[in-house]
Amino acid sequence: MAKKNIDWGSIGFSYIPTDKRYVANFKDGKWEGGLTSDPNVVINECAGVLQYSQSCFEGLKAYTTEDGRTVCFRPDLNAARMKSSCERLKMPVFPEDKFVEAVKEVVKANIDYVPPYGSGATLYIRPYMFGSNPVIGVKPADEYQFRIFVTPVGPYFKGGAKPITIRVTDLDRAAPRGTGHIKAGLNYAMSLYNIVDAHENGFDENLYVDPATRTKVEETGGANCIFVDKNGTVVVPKSPSILPSITRRSLVTVAKDYLGLNVEEREVYLSELSDFAEMGLCGTAAVISPIGKVYDHGKEICFPSGMDEMGPTIKKLYDTLTGIQMGRIEAPEGWIVEIK
Ligand code: PLP
Ligand code: COI
Repeated sequence: MAKKNIDWGSIGFSYIPTDKRYVANFKDGKWEGGLTSDPNVVINECAGVLQYSQSCFEGLKAYTTEDGRTVCFRPDLNAARMKSSCERLKMPVFPEDKFVEAVKEVVKANIDYVPPYGSGATLYIRPYMFGSNPVIGVKPADEYQFRIFVTPVGPYFKGGAKPITIRVTDLDRAAPRGTGHIKAGLNYAMSLYNIVDAHENGFDENLYVDPATRTKVEETGGANCIFVDKNGTVVVPKSPSILPSITRRSLVTVAKDYLGLNVEEREVYLSELSDFAEMGLCGTAAVISPIGKVYDHGKEICFPSGMDEMGPTIKKLYDTLTGIQMGRIEAPEGWIVEIK
């Protein structure tokens, strides 16, 4: 079969339906599922997800490598993170090995939608789960649906690898002992007001700080932060309420083992921002997006790397990570899962 006739270079980060998706239903303690062509979900008006937002999701990508293979990146870590999301939200776990198999099955069934090597696009894979039976008292559902759809995507931020501007926000994303460390749909619902407001005011994203002291950097609405200090040390914020990004964890390994850089995982204070040489956002959707400027209540923190291009260390991290994902650089054991 031939690749779909899509202008890969001009797509953004939006939903393009593909041919097949995976659906499994949980009932009476058992999961049963398979591929389907139907993109629609029909559930009861009182379904747990509709009343009390009992849902969680994951995000990963499939890539065409330089030598024409189709691969995905560390799906076992998405399976493990979905397990922690489900446990925190009192949802049944979709077995981790079956999760990886289902990811492979859906990508294979939509192979013609995996963007070609070098096109700038990738196939975004979205596994998710929700409570599907009627629930009216506040309690977990008894029945659940787990689904995976895929959609070809381009860059998450318009302009691709161009530095963006973010603002320090007064609203909170995650309570100190709340759900910031898991991928609950509710974490994103509560950020919608704020992302619209950021865009209306000319900012690309919100930088959340720790709600307890409002002095430490947490993350943005959809990505972790990564910094490079003036000595070339890579610094990543440590907090129990940020999402454990698979991209960030991978970049820490890339920085240490591939680039020989020092890495510090520690609390990062807002007051230190102006001491850093480079800042970026990292995540599956964001890949690594350089930050040119942070706006903090009337004060502008402009990184020496500027507004035109990525700083040198972030560029090396970006080139190495994407090199591993696209098969140009040898990957650590187990990072690349071949689909075809
Ligand atoms: N932080 C938040 C809030 C996210 O939504 C995401 C996206 O998944 C990330 C960080 C990055 O995580 P990952 O690198 O696993 O995609
Ligand atoms: C991802 O990077 O996969 C996410 O889920 C982030 C989301 C904001 C698109």
